[in-house]
Amino acid sequence: MSLKSTSSRYGSVAVAIHWLSALMIVLLFATGLLAAAQVDSDAKVALLRAHTPLGAGVLVLTLFRIVWWFVADKRPALPAGQPAWQQWVARATHIGLYVVVLVTASSGIATIVLSGALPAIVGSATLPNLETVLPRAVHGVVSRLMLGLLALHIGAALYHQFIRRDHLLARMGIGAA
Ligand code: HEM
Repeated sequence: MSLKSTSSRYGSVAVAIHWLSALMIVLLFATGLLAAAQVDSDAKVALLRAHTPLGAGVLVLTLFRIVWWFVADKRPALPAGQPAWQQWVARATHIGLYVVVLVTASSGIATIVLSGALPAIVGSATLPNLETVLPRAVHGVVSRLMLGLLALHIGAALYHQFIRRDHLLARMGIGAA
């Protein structure tokens, strides 16, 4: 597989970023939801010590991915033979995913900074109440929106792979074309 994409499949840089981001986002939902439900402050801080660098990592990977598309690589064309409405939904979902990842990660960073939680996460200070700052509410809402878009995205990939049987996952490095 070459570093850059071709007209019909993603290159190794795009494939690596895609699956690494997917794994990190699964871990972010697990640690984020557990932290939000946690009443014990020490346990909440421990979860946030995993959640915060993972979220910052996804933000950096996503910014790199956007720069990569603009300066170095070109996205493959959408699979042939799809009705126009499906192409529109696919494009809107892909752009939507970039937007919600950027807003979720930025609102997470703003929550930590504005609530004054950083000394608790990097040191041993007491964790303040995170719910007092507006970005915390934004983070909760936009992460739910991301779940909706991910359901659409994964559902479409499975529809292509198992109902249309057009080997869509091979474009993203899984299985043979
Ligand atoms: C794509 C990246 C991210 C995803 C998918 C994500 C996901 C989540 C989710 C699902 C929650 C639970 C929200 C709720 O139930 O209301 C959460 C909470 C939280 N996240 Fe993130 N997050 C991301 C990035 C970040 C970043 C970069 C930071 C900080 C640097 C951060 C800090 C927090 C904080 C402080 C909470 C609140 C925990 C609490 O209330 O106890 N997140 N996150």
